[in-house]
Amino acid sequence: MRFLLPNAYLLEKEVPMIAAIIAAAGSGERFGATIPKALISLGDRTLIEHALASLSAVVDEIVITAPAGYEDAIRTIAADRATVVTGGSTRSESVRIGLAAVSPTAEYVLVHDAARALASSDLARRVITALKSGDVAVIPGLAQVDTVKVVDGDGYVTATPDRAPLRRVQTPQGFAYDLLKRAHASGSDATDDAALVEQLGARVKVIEGEERAIKITTPSDLATALQFLGNTHDFSTGVGVDSHAFADGRPLHLAGLFWPDETGVDGHSDGDVAAHAICDALFAASNLGDLGSNFGTSRPEYAGASGAQLLQETTRLVTAAGYSISHVSVQIIGNRPKIGARRVEAIAALSAALGGADVALLATTTDGLGLTGEGKGIAAIASALITKN
Ligand code: CTP
Ligand code: MG
Repeated sequence: MRFLLPNAYLLEKEVPMIAAIIAAAGSGERFGATIPKALISLGDRTLIEHALASLSAVVDEIVITAPAGYEDAIRTIAADRATVVTGGSTRSESVRIGLAAVSPTAEYVLVHDAARALASSDLARRVITALKSGDVAVIPGLAQVDTVKVVDGDGYVTATPDRAPLRRVQTPQGFAYDLLKRAHASGSDATDDAALVEQLGARVKVIEGEERAIKITTPSDLATALQFLGNTHDFSTGVGVDSHAFADGRPLHLAGLFWPDETGVDGHSDGDVAAHAICDALFAASNLGDLGSNFGTSRPEYAGASGAQLLQETTRLVTAAGYSISHVSVQIIGNRPKIGARRVEAIAALSAALGGADVALLATTTDGLGLTGEGKGIAAIASALITKN
């Protein structure tokens, strides 16, 4: 399959088809679990799901080599994102079987270990970029930081190689399709695919690897990988805005408090702009729609609901989706009411409605500009930081 870009500048320029093989057929003997290593969980998903997610973002086709007996389990995980084949008794044999299932129109093939679950899409992209710029074999590698010794069978050192030119290599490793086919035609075994390509005399380019592409071999490697995961994702942010016009004769509810002696605002609910902006920020962060889609006219039970009730229900929905609310910040924009004297009380009310989340409350005027500056209404802008459990 070859694609033509619908772009005048690139007319007639073919986009190369890029395939990937994920070697996942190992039993994970050194890991010591009762299930194959590729099906071990790391954070919220299995190793094979991590590998699949980062590669499917950058390649056109994926073949996974599954351990015998686990093909259907991996097919369920892969859905339409990959073809699943049964692997062989060694890694090289698994890759050979995978390669036979790659479309012959592929120009480049990436070979990746499911065990290097946290290798990023960016790393795969950099491998592809080097292939497109003319290298026929590209592998990621990191500097060797420890001194390396060569030892004999009795454990005595026979040599100390200079560590400066040494690299600890990783996957995904990328190859021109024809070269990889020739390399595997020998049927030889090696611990990586580049070694087979080197035997053909081809030039193998090493690009900068990633610490997070660590190969998970033992439970202690899994613990290390978990730290990379914790540092890099699992939180999201959202922003929400609301505004209402003042309406004589209505009570004012703002930031979860009732404000006697203040003019209230128009609206379907109690018009608490601070609460509404926070709800939208939380819906944005959790990708659960917005205030309208969750509490709008199709949900009449929320007509007239207080800001605090909407915050409580939003908190329930966001929590049910697997998040905890880490921090919420809201800024009220308007000439009145003056927030300062009741800031602590308002923060307590908002935090209580948010299940105890950390809340910051600020207020500002707009120097007489706009509808809030002219005293016609009140607005609020909020941001939320939530963490996936
Ligand atoms: N692999 C494979 N087929 C094999 C052996 C290994 O597809 N016959 C895959 C593994 O699933 C892994 C990658 O090759 O993603 C690297 O191998 P390794 O980390 O050694 O995994 P295992 O072989 O499963 O682990 P162990 O050697 O401890 O049994
Ligand atoms: Mg192995």
